Amino acid sequence: MDAPVRRIYLDYAATSPVDADVASVVSAEAARAFGNASSVHSYGREAKAVLERSRETIARCIGAEPGEVFFTSGGTEADNHALIGTAFAARRKTGKSHLIVSSIEHHAVLHCADYLASLGFTVSVAPAGADGRVNPADVEALITPATCLISVMHVNNEIGTIQPVAEIGAAAHAHGVLFHTDAVQAVGKIPVDVRTLNADLLSITAHKIYGPKGIGAIVIRRGTDVDALMHGGSQERKQRAGTENVPLIAGFARAVERAVNSMDESRMRAGAMKQRLVRNVCDAIDGVILNGDQERTVPSILSLSLDGARYAIDGETLLINMDLRGIAVSSGSACTSGSVQPSHVLQAMGRESRDALLTLRFSFGTPTTMDDVDAAADAFIDIAARAARR
Ligand SMILES: Cc1ncc(COP(=O)(O)O)c(C=O)c1O
Repeated sequence: MDAPVRRIYLDYAATSPVDADVASVVSAEAARAFGNASSVHSYGREAKAVLERSRETIARCIGAEPGEVFFTSGGTEADNHALIGTAFAARRKTGKSHLIVSSIEHHAVLHCADYLASLGFTVSVAPAGADGRVNPADVEALITPATCLISVMHVNNEIGTIQPVAEIGAAAHAHGVLFHTDAVQAVGKIPVDVRTLNADLLSITAHKIYGPKGIGAIVIRRGTDVDALMHGGSQERKQRAGTENVPLIAGFARAVERAVNSMDESRMRAGAMKQRLVRNVCDAIDGVILNGDQERTVPSILSLSLDGARYAIDGETLLINMDLRGIAVSSGSACTSGSVQPSHVLQAMGRESRDALLTLRFSFGTPTTMDDVDAAADAFIDIAARAARR
């Protein structure tokens, strides 16, 4: 019998396992602080105390005030809240109905923008360069007197590029426009401070940093007009009705705290892993393209493509072959209407379809070892070598 394949997870930008310490916080609070945080009795007060302590912890880690943190079901809801909530409030109060998003945003932002367009809002899409970065001047050039919101992500989830968000936020403010940044892939990877980023709204989630899935937050800076998406009780100061999930929120706070406290070390480790993977692969095979400006990319994400002129394989086969060898990574493509297309991010960077379809994203996490990196590189090299055109 064949030996079982050793499985190696290198898809931490998709999600991460829950850290043992975080899991113990969640289960302890599920048993202890089970009361409804809105109840007046001691059980409610106990839950409320955990809720508010968690809010304070998260706020401290990202330079916000506790009263500016509103819990949501994750990054998607936070992005929806930022775009739809701001657009609705702005149109009602000021008549402004134009939004600007970048072409490399997560679908949680892009599809919200599409939805708003279907409701009569106008949306402009700021381009990205071949380096995977958005130029603040390109965003500023799209501002009109009707612009109410600009949304540009902090770190791109597919290629890891760090966007010049502080500059974009400053340009937004210079024109009296609100600025939202999706910092889902940034927290715990690079310093995130809502004040220095000039963000009025900022989205975060727990499951990318060893916290539980289904919990995140939207930061809404004081004085920012945003409509609620959920209507019902007066939880989260009427921004988000519904009984708060206190155990998950406590776990989220622990995850953020741990990620921020260990950020320097994880960056160094991930940097060494990325360097090793790039060196192993580039020393062994030709026609490897690194996606995104590598000087301005988080070390935990490496997106690379194979030159389609040199390799006779498609991206899906590449991904499946990696999986057969136990290596879990992501591809740079998406199945849209039954056909495989390069991801919107690679398309926005102007990448040729042929290479863009041959893209894999490796993302490293705390449990990743150099052995894992070497095994992933070996598998990739072997699969590519077999597919090399002669
Ligand atoms: C940049 C970015 N924004 C938003 C999301 C959505 O977050 P969630 O899965 O918590 O809804 C993700 C997750 O893939 C992401 O990478």
